[in-house]
Amino acid sequence: MAIHGDSGEYEFLIEAVQMSAGVDGMLCEVGLRRGLGTKTIIDAAAPGRIVISIDPFGNIPYVGREYVGLIRLDYTNDMYKQVLSDMSAYVLDKPIEWIPFKMTDHQFFSRYFDGVPLYDFEETVCNKYAMIHLDGPHHYDAIETEFIFFNERMDSGATIVIDDVTEDFIDIAPVNQLFECNGWRLVKQGSKKNIYVKY
Ligand SMILES: C[S@@+](CC[C@H](N)C(=O)[O-])C[C@H]1O[C@@H](n2cnc3c(N)ncnc32)[C@H](O)[C@@H]1O
Repeated sequence: MAIHGDSGEYEFLIEAVQMSAGVDGMLCEVGLRRGLGTKTIIDAAAPGRIVISIDPFGNIPYVGREYVGLIRLDYTNDMYKQVLSDMSAYVLDKPIEWIPFKMTDHQFFSRYFDGVPLYDFEETVCNKYAMIHLDGPHHYDAIETEFIFFNERMDSGATIVIDDVTEDFIDIAPVNQLFECNGWRLVKQGSKKNIYVKY
């Protein structure tokens, strides 16, 4: 079964997972779609890592390109059923727990402000993140909100990858400034994705 993506430079996700290998916390993708970003993160993750994906689907209005504004694409609830089936089958024999959250980034941030409950013989709560792929709404305000939430929950050495960093999607300069002013360094600049590291 093929798990599809809609972008390029997926190897940046592998690099970001490897760079943050010694950092405590979950690995997370915002914007799951058909699953290739999350699958790539799962493939690169060490056994025992928790990988989560946040995506509301439901064909709600979405900013895919900053200068275009809100539109509806094909991120439907049927797409959700398909990706849930594909990804569940994919991860079944892997030593990784994958947890999808069918909600917007905003909903996740308010509902899981104090952490994500995890169940493995015992109940624990994790409120740390080691690596994030930001590939949901592509506009400055959304990325700033996401950055503020995750930055507070990430330790030194953690990584964030942003997708669609070219000017036909977003003006990336203020995003770079936001990261640099808050203790992050742009360590790899691609033609689709950027990798930032917290120092
Ligand atoms: C560009 S696609 C993600 C592609 C995927 N990461 C990949 O590599 O194939 C954007 C996704 O963001 C989701 N999305 C839209 N609004 C969102 C929000 N507020 N929070 C999280 N995800 C959102 C859409 O439903 C869609 O599946």
